[in-house]
Order: sequence, then C-alpha cells, then structure tokens
Amino acid sequence: MSKSYNVAVLGGDGTGPEVVQEALKVLEVAQSKFGFKLNYQPYDLGGERYLKTGETLPDSVIEEFRKQDAIFLGAIGHPDVKPGILEVGILLKARFALDQYINLRPVKLYRTEDCPLKDKEPKDVDFVVVRENTGGIYTGVGGVVQKGTPLEIATQVMVYSRPVVERCVRFAYEYARRRNKKKMLTLVHKSNVLTHAGDLWVRTHKELGDREFTDIKQDYNHVDAATMWFVKQPEWYDVIVTENLFGDIITDLAAIIQGGLGVAAGGNINPEGVSMFEPMGGSAPKYKGQNVINPLAAIAAAGMMLDTLGEHEAAAAVDRAMTATLNSGKIKSLAAGRMGLGTKEVGDLAASLV
Ligand code: IPM
Ligand code: MN
Repeated sequence: MSKSYNVAVLGGDGTGPEVVQEALKVLEVAQSKFGFKLNYQPYDLGGERYLKTGETLPDSVIEEFRKQDAIFLGAIGHPDVKPGILEVGILLKARFALDQYINLRPVKLYRTEDCPLKDKEPKDVDFVVVRENTGGIYTGVGGVVQKGTPLEIATQVMVYSRPVVERCVRFAYEYARRRNKKKMLTLVHKSNVLTHAGDLWVRTHKELGDREFTDIKQDYNHVDAATMWFVKQPEWYDVIVTENLFGDIITDLAAIIQGGLGVAAGGNINPEGVSMFEPMGGSAPKYKGQNVINPLAAIAAAGMMLDTLGEHEAAAAVDRAMTATLNSGKIKSLAAGRMGLGTKEVGDLAASLV
C-alpha cells in the first residue's frame, strides 16, 4: 500500500490561495508518479477570518495541526488588518506552539538572468540557511518601564539556552552531512560583541563538530561580514547556521540573490513533529485574483514539504521541474505581472515537467 499523509492547507490572504492552487497541481503529478497520497484539510485562517471573528489561530486549530503530517501555507497579511496581528497571531504562534525550531531556507539560483549579482551563475548560488526559529529576541523576554516618559527603558533580550542552541546546530550539521556537497557548516553570529549569547553558539558549534561531526568542516562569519560575502562570494557557502533575528535578516538578502520572492521558499521545521512550509513572498494583495503572481516559490515550498515527509525522490523531481520550468525559455521574469505567462500557466508548465 502506498503511503499517505495528512496535510493542513492554509491558502491565507491575498494571492496565497492562487499560488497554493498551482503547488497542489504539481503535487498531484508527484503523487501519481511516485505513488503516495496527500489528504488535504483546508483551513480558512487569515485576514478575512480575523476581520469576521477576531480569531487568528485558535488553540483548537493548533490541536488539529498536531495530528497532521505537515502544514502548507500560502501567505498571510491583509491590507485592512494592522501589521503584526496576523504575523504574530498565526505565523509566530504556529512556530512556537508546534515547536518548529528550525527555519530552513534553501538559497538556489535556478538561472543566471535572475541573479542581481555580476558574473554569478547557478553553480555560485547554492547554499542553505538553517535559522533558529523559536528563540533569541523573538521569545519576547524583556519589558518596558516608564513608558511614554523621557526616561523610558525598553529591553528585548536575546535568550538562548544550551539545549536550544544545540538542537539547532545539530540539525545543521546533520543537514550538511546529508546534503553531501562541501560538507561545511558556517556559523553566523556576532561573537566579537555578543560575548555571552554569541559565545554559547561558538562553543556549541565547535564542541558538537569536534565530537560528532568530524567529517564536516567548521567555518565562522560575523553577521555583518556575512552580508558582504553573500554579495561578493556566495559560492563560498554550503550550510549556514545562525540565531533567529540574524537569520531573519540574512535570509531576505539571500532571497534576492537567488532571484527574489518569486522563487524563495522556506520551511518551519520541527524534526520530531509537524512542520509548516511556505513561499516567502507574502500576500501581495494588489495582485490578488489577476493570475499574475509567480507560483514558483509555492511550488518550491511543496518540494521541501515532500522532502521533509520522506518522499525524497518526489522532492528531487519537483526541484528538477523548477529548474526545467525556469530554463524553458517561456518565463521572462520572476516578478509578478512580468512573467510573460499567467500564474496558472506557470503552474501547468511546472506540473508538466515533474
Ligand atoms: C519571516 C518573516 C517573519 C519573521 C515575520 C512575518 C514575523 O519575516 O518568516 O522571515 O520575522 O520571522
Ligand atoms: Mn523575514
């Protein structure tokens, strides 16, 4: 009997449902070719539901998510909802409640013309960022006193425990081993200034590497320097591991060197639990319903989901379909409205190439 998986599908806001639709097309072909079954459970979370009911991500839905094998998210963000409410109420809540402690961001350039860097080709932009996804400044530890007075003090603390750092660094080492390319793990931090929190990462990276991952080279960049090297010499990197906020910042830079939000995908991963996959692009409300948004990031996210579910061959086929689609000569640009094809046509093309 073929394997079957339960997947919660959150189209979400703006163009989210449209790109999800195209990803499902690709997943349809992958299922029939590779002999597995995805059972979808749709959810209407997002701005519309919030405006109607005041709910973002209810605890009862979190409990339902725990029983799924994966979550597939289109986008959240609504022009009539104050920024922060949906991001914190849905995205961050899911990450924390489901302990999705890894944010995995493959950075891969599929074709030369999408790269804004001079003289760089697909072979030069191919690395993975493992961002710690539930700790650090995002935990919200800190506070404010004397608010609104001239003496106001506010703190937001970079909180990290050894086990939280260690599980993330371990995931990254294992990933570098499985990826089997340069077999190098670059820690990105700011240990020259963050002598407490940074030092904890530096020691964990070294001790774990020396003890359990002697086949993986150890490398280190300060985060400010990493932003320069991403532009100057992206070919240096294989796997990068970093704390939450630094990872948030450098993965946006990384997204643009792989061609931008039209292709960038990410996974919020709990290696022992339920993971959530998403295109990085956001809800792009002005393009909603016009068949102009690029669905390739959602298709890449679907491929990542298959990999995490253990359908490695199908995941590799989706990745090859991404490359073939982008090198078909039919897609002019990755930008919404300038692709030369519609959202649905790009989805059809990708599905035909799986
Ligand atoms: C991301 C996003 C989120 C983050 C926001 C929307 C809360 O920027 O997934 O990178 O900061 O993690
Ligand atoms: Mn971000």
